[in-house]
Amino acid sequence: MSRVNELFEAAKSAREKSYSPYSKFAVGAALIDEQGRIHTGCNIENAAYPEGCCAEAIAIGHLVMAGGKRVREALVVADADLATPCGGCRQKLLEFGDANVRVHVADLNGVRRDFTIGSLLPAGFILKEND
Ligand code: THU
Repeated sequence: MSRVNELFEAAKSAREKSYSPYSKFAVGAALIDEQGRIHTGCNIENAAYPEGCCAEAIAIGHLVMAGGKRVREALVVADADLATPCGGCRQKLLEFGDANVRVHVADLNGVRRDFTIGSLLPAGFILKEND
């Protein structure tokens, strides 16, 4: 059974923790790991703008620190028409996922579009095969 609703609710509550006083653009992300656990993140900005962290990167950090190894499914939510992951986050998702992993992109009302990591990052750079 699909866990998209669960991912959506988790990402939406993560988004509420967003620290984004500069962009005022709050983002939430939720990931399912290989054990079926959900990990979340929000964007966390900094006065030195490029030092901010995206929601997806924080969620990956949580997954790794909880002992997770792989991303099996991802969802990103923002109050926007289509808040797809930025280029850097596409690479980060590929590192822990694979080209077939689904990335749901949601607004505050629900999922608007489904992608795969491979469709977001065609011919993505990889150095090692996944476990
Ligand atoms: N942001 C994310 O958290 N994820 C994305 O994939 C796109 C952008 C954040 C970064 C910054 O804090 C704010 O959204 C505006 O760019």
